[in-house]
Amino acid sequence: MATYRLTILPGDGTGPEVMAEGEKLLAVIEQYTDLAFEKTTIPCGGKHWLDTGEEWPEGSFEHCRDNTDAILLGAIGWPGAVLPNGDLAGGQVILGLRSGLDLYANVRPIKLYDGVLHKIHDEFTQVWEPAKVDMLVLRENTEGLYHSLLRRSAQRAQGIEEMEDPEIEFDGLSGEVAWDPRPISRKGSERLIRLGFEYSRRRNGSPGDGISRVTCVDKSNVTRGCQLFRQVFREMGEAYPEIRCEEAYIDAFTMWMVRNPEWFDVVVTTNMFGDIVTDLGSVLQGGMGMAASANIGDVHGLFEPVHGSSPKHAGKDIVNPIATLNSIQLMIEWLGMQHSDDEALQVSDLIEQAIAEHLAEGELLTYDLGGTASTSEVGSAIAERLANLLIKVSEPAQSPDQPSDR
Ligand code: IPM
Ligand code: MN
Repeated sequence: MATYRLTILPGDGTGPEVMAEGEKLLAVIEQYTDLAFEKTTIPCGGKHWLDTGEEWPEGSFEHCRDNTDAILLGAIGWPGAVLPNGDLAGGQVILGLRSGLDLYANVRPIKLYDGVLHKIHDEFTQVWEPAKVDMLVLRENTEGLYHSLLRRSAQRAQGIEEMEDPEIEFDGLSGEVAWDPRPISRKGSERLIRLGFEYSRRRNGSPGDGISRVTCVDKSNVTRGCQLFRQVFREMGEAYPEIRCEEAYIDAFTMWMVRNPEWFDVVVTTNMFGDIVTDLGSVLQGGMGMAASANIGDVHGLFEPVHGSSPKHAGKDIVNPIATLNSIQLMIEWLGMQHSDDEALQVSDLIEQAIAEHLAEGELLTYDLGGTASTSEVGSAIAERLANLLIKVSEPAQSPDQPSDR
């Protein structure tokens, strides 16, 4: 029997609502499998900072680092929650963990499930066949344009004095100037890109033609950091002759991903570009309510929906919990791989199946998918479906020509 220590960070706004649905799924897994969870829930976020003066209780970072097998995060961000230095309040939680635990890959699947309609023209339509959107975006998660903020947030989380960026004079600029360094390292690029090739190996190729391809998305015609990123991509690609290496500039890529999503299998990109294209990409999968993510390093993993805290929807029980349920699926899959736990891997497949069947049936959907169901109705329905699938696989198989009652 495997027991995993989970730290749950519900966070701001709708975060706690979607997390409550995630916990229903965890309870079902505990009830019907040999997996068990030792859960610690920690209050945190921008609203928590406004209320208490701290982003989360002291010792929380250390708890996530030293006493946790996987972290589940709801959402961080609240109107007016800005630290005196201008940084995001709650940043210690999301950015401090990404940087402080070296979660270098932000893995964001963009997959359109059968039955899901999207809203490109502000109408519910089905432009793409579901099987034609199934790509995996890997966003570098510890450097690039986020580097300074990530480092400051991690330093705050660990009680280390925060370092400010060096003063620089820019030729031709005068008066007040704000700037953000964008360092990109060989090591940071290598580990992210390697993971991209490894994921492509395990997948079925691009949905359009079945060809395994990794696309490097950058702006190497303009920035030096991207030139290094692309250079590393080319070098690493040589070790994967069976995978096709392709390159695209971020501006053109945004057009291609909307026009020909079926072309893409795995995409590797830098931090801010990955942040932006995954919000755009969510439109191809039915919206932000469907977008799940895994922040992973070699040791630690943090799993969260891509969407924010959505203050205007908070407390109404209307947002889509599926991005969180899918993030839990990614978490159980990752735990299964990290710990060579076949049962966890099987459970992760069944979570995916439960979500896919729920969507294909199309009866209980939240407003963003064209339905009228509540957050909790959708969460309960999927948890119940998972329970039934787990019961079914645990029953001994019966051969049809040997009826058991004779
Ligand atoms: C995301 C979010 C965060 C980011 C914010 C909340 C700091 O937009 O996870 O995509 O920019 O990375
Ligand atoms: Mn984002």
